[in-house]
Amino acid sequence: MLIKKPATIKSSEITDEAIYLRRREFLQTSAGLGLLPFVKTAAAKTGASLQHVKNAKLSSSEKPTAYESITSYNNFYEFGTDKESPAKYANRLTTEPWSIVIDGAVNKPGRYQLEDILKPHTLEERIYRLRCVERWSMVVPWIGFSLADLIKRFEPTSKAKYVQFTTLYRPKEMIGQQRGVLNWPYVEGLRMDEAMHPLTMLAVGLYGKVMPNQNGAPIRLVVPWKYGYKSIKSIVKISFTEQEPPTTWNLSAPSEYGFYSNVNPQVDHPRWSQRKERRIGEFLRRDTLMFNGYADEVAHLYKGMDLRKYY
Ligand code: MTE
Repeated sequence: MLIKKPATIKSSEITDEAIYLRRREFLQTSAGLGLLPFVKTAAAKTGASLQHVKNAKLSSSEKPTAYESITSYNNFYEFGTDKESPAKYANRLTTEPWSIVIDGAVNKPGRYQLEDILKPHTLEERIYRLRCVERWSMVVPWIGFSLADLIKRFEPTSKAKYVQFTTLYRPKEMIGQQRGVLNWPYVEGLRMDEAMHPLTMLAVGLYGKVMPNQNGAPIRLVVPWKYGYKSIKSIVKISFTEQEPPTTWNLSAPSEYGFYSNVNPQVDHPRWSQRKERRIGEFLRRDTLMFNGYADEVAHLYKGMDLRKYY
C-alpha cells in the first residue's frame, strides 16, 4: 500500500496582509452581531455542557440513539479503520487553538480562529437521522447551526458553485494518517445549493455537550440526507470553487462512491443492497428511506437528474 507524504503548506493557506486587514473588517461586523456565552464553552473540553436552543422544526421526533453508542461506534479513519479505534485514540488530538482557512471564490477569505467563526451564531439542537453507507444508522441530537448562515458571512462570489471541506492533517496526533489507507487529508464537497440548504449544519456538540473528539471535534459537517461519509469531521478549511471538488471516497473507489452520495435505497452499492439498514440499538432491520427520510425537504434539489448516474 502506498504511504502518502505529508502535504506541503500551500501559499493559499498563508494569510497575506490584505487578507489580514479584511479579516479585521470581518471581525468588526461579527462583533456587532453579539457575543454569546457558548463561545467560551465551545472551546472547552469534551464533556462540558453547551448552551443551546432546540429546533423542533428541523428535528426528527425519533428517539436518539444512546450517547454511549454514538461516541463509541465511529468511522474516523484518521484514528484507524475499525469502529472502536476513534474512541480509543482520538483523545490524542489537540483541538485548541483551532482555526479555519476560508479561501477561493469569496470576498472575505482568511484564516479565522474558531471562536471568531462561532461568535455570531446561536447554537441549536437538531435531532437528525444519520445513515452510513455500511447499512447502519443512528439518530443524533447534534448541536450547531446552519452552514448557510456561515457561508453568507464570507460573501461567496458568483463563481462559487461548490464548497470543498478539508480535515486536519496531523499524523503525529491522528495516528491513522501514518498509513496510506486514504488520500490524506480527507476532503469532501457539496454543491452550493446543498451547502445553503437549511438542513445542512456545522456541529460543535451532541447530546448537550461539546463534540467528543471521535465525532469530529471541534467542528464538523452534518448533511442528514446523504450517506454519513459526506459529513466530514475536524474541518480546517472551507474553499469555494467553480468546479466540482474531489472527494476522498470518490478518489478511493469511484465506482462505489459518487460526488452526490444521497441516501438512495433504489441504487445498490456495487457490493451490497442499500434497501435496509440496522438502527444501532435495534435488532430488526428497517427499510431505508429515500434521502434518508428528508425527501420532502431536498428532492427538489435533484429534479431532472438521473440519480443512478449521479449517485
Ligand atoms: N471525516 C473524516 N475526516 N474522516 C472519516 O473517516 N468518516 C465518515 C464521516 N466523516 C470520516 C469523516 C463516515 S464514513 C461516517 S459514517 C461519519 O463520519 C461517522 O460519523 P460519527 O462517527 O460521528 O457517527
